[in-house]
Amino acid sequence: MIKSASSSASYSAENMIPFIDLAAQQKRIRPDVDKAIQAVLDHGMYIMGPEVQTLEDQLAAFTGAKHAVSTSSGTDALILCLMALGLKPGDGVIVPSFSFAASAEVMPCLGAIPIFAEVNPHSFTLDPARLNDALATANTAGINVVGIIPVGLFGQPSDMTAINQFADQHHLWVLDDAAQSLGAKREGQQVGQMAKATATSFFPAKPLGCYGDGGALFTDDDGLAEIAKSARVHGMGKNRYDYERIGMTARMDTMQAAVLLEKLKLFPEELQRRQAKADRYNSALKDIVSPQHLAHDATSSWAQYCFLLPAGVDRDMVQEQLKSVGIPSVVYYKMGIHEHAPYARYPVAQGGLPVTADLCQRILSLPFHAWIDDDTQDYITDHFIRIMRDLDQA
Ligand SMILES: Cc1ncc(COP(=O)(O)O)c(C=O)c1O
Repeated sequence: MIKSASSSASYSAENMIPFIDLAAQQKRIRPDVDKAIQAVLDHGMYIMGPEVQTLEDQLAAFTGAKHAVSTSSGTDALILCLMALGLKPGDGVIVPSFSFAASAEVMPCLGAIPIFAEVNPHSFTLDPARLNDALATANTAGINVVGIIPVGLFGQPSDMTAINQFADQHHLWVLDDAAQSLGAKREGQQVGQMAKATATSFFPAKPLGCYGDGGALFTDDDGLAEIAKSARVHGMGKNRYDYERIGMTARMDTMQAAVLLEKLKLFPEELQRRQAKADRYNSALKDIVSPQHLAHDATSSWAQYCFLLPAGVDRDMVQEQLKSVGIPSVVYYKMGIHEHAPYARYPVAQGGLPVTADLCQRILSLPFHAWIDDDTQDYITDHFIRIMRDLDQA
């Protein structure tokens, strides 16, 4: 067991700090969540019960989007958006390779083609300056590119003004993958308003998470919302057994909506707390690592606290040593999506993805959530700084 000078807690490889502490949040809302779940058990409308519509109304109010459509997961929200945008087999969609697989996997699911693009080395989000390279690659391969999926990685929205401009010039739609960035803003606009369509995830570890799988999509487009709502219930028309299109089952469970309504009450405070925790990490670590750079016009929902280790540092060794003093760390992401075998046949932007390769080598993420206390954060940063100093002197 090792103690920090600034913390009375003892941690070790057998007694690790939680990477994300969902129990700390639950303690604050448990009686209300219990009541909300009880209410669902009492009325028994497990599918599309009243909580689902209430949640959609509140999510629309929160984001400022005209329509919020709840879904069974973030991945299904992306798929429903793509169906509503009219994606066809063989169409191409530009997407960053430095992301979670779901950002790209939704294209092959619908017979379409992800075109892997580069990210910015500081913000880690889709680089508007390299979009042309992705488009050129697709053009050369004879692929008809129809849209772009930027990803609000680790909580920070992409440079949506530049991306929307590029999209307008080339007659493409933009679908914002905001699975990690709900609650963030860019140029004063909330996530949910910055693209033709936006998809988010309520996976438990997300900034706003439920107690299972869940997601939502946002749009101002009436037609798009209508198609997405129909497609999430088997392509249903006005009459339940009247099918207007091919669809699927992608509804949010009433139980999850009930949980989310309670969590949404806490969310604005949690966003502020996340920013304060990220600021604390930044000020302790900024001289020894390169934290994800937050654009001057952006806020982040800080889904993860990520930074780049200096080039040449043995990341496995750092993780090993952190673990020995009870500090978990995670690598988001070890490989670009395009490097995984199932994606090997899809095109990569001309000029390659050297930034993605570099980030995959150097990125690391430390324990982070809205309720991590100062002592625990100090314990983590004290040990991290010591480990980095020892490695430097070795
Ligand atoms: C960037 C990104 N896109 C999409 C998803 C998919 O969300 P879900 O797990 O709710 O399907 C995730 C979830 O981890 C994600 O991080």
